[in-house]
Formats: sequence, C-alpha cells, structure tokens
Amino acid sequence: MKTLLISLFTIAATSLGAIAQDAVKLELTGNDQMQFDKKELTVTEGQKVTLTLKHIGKLAKNVMGHNVVILQAGTPVPPFAMKAAPAAATDYIPADEESKKLIVAHTKMVGGGESASVTFTAPAPGDYPYICTFPGHFGLMTGKLVVKAK
Ligand code: CU
Repeated sequence: MKTLLISLFTIAATSLGAIAQDAVKLELTGNDQMQFDKKELTVTEGQKVTLTLKHIGKLAKNVMGHNVVILQAGTPVPPFAMKAAPAAATDYIPADEESKKLIVAHTKMVGGGESASVTFTAPAPGDYPYICTFPGHFGLMTGKLVVKAK
C-alpha cells in the first residue's frame, strides 16, 4: 500500500513537472511566393520550444515544398543548402554526419495547406540561422533564431 501511494505521488509530481515545462509556441508561415512571414524568432536558452510551420499557399510539396531547418550558430548557410538540395530521398535533409551535426532542429517538408511542428530545447545563447532547404529556396526563405541568455 505504501509503495502504491509513493508511486501515485511520483506520477502526480511528474505530471506537474511536465506542465511547468510547457513548450513556448512559435509559428512561422511559408507561402507560394517562397517567403517566410518572419525573419527573426526569439527564445530564451533552455526553454522548450514548439515551432510550427504553416504552408499558407496552394502549391504542392513537389513544386513549392517548405520546411524549417535551424542550424548551429555561425553555420555558413549556402554550403549547407548546397548539400541539402540534392537530398530529395531524405526530404532535403542532408544525411551525412557532418551536416547532421549542424542541425539543431527541423520540421518535415510540407505542401500548400499543410503544417508541421518540431519541439526542441533552445540551445546556448546566440544567433541560429534557419532556412527552408527545398532546392533554390534558402536565398529568400531564411531568418534567424535569436536565443537570449536566461
Ligand atoms: Cu521553401
């Protein structure tokens, strides 16, 4: 009986902890004109973040697909995008180890009317570039995630 009570208490405490750490919700839209609606997103280090990308256009994923890929601070964007562009088999997420290390978080690729979310913990303070890795999109579809110190 005592064990049962302790277990119940543990479950209650665990769910309270989960509520306290509710993720901060951020939203980004992408359209048929190859644009994100925001060039900058701000979070605080250690914060749990849920980023949702909404494709508000009408074009299909194979012609105007969008995703959001957040890269480590200081990552040069063009070389990364060049590696992502031929990676159709992996939804334009480069699969080599070197590139994978540069990715903080990413959503899946979506087409018009669809949306996708990704939850991650905000890393150390800094400016993290984000891009859409659909071939040819990174020039316009780019921005930065600013992580502030606690
Ligand atoms: Cu795109």
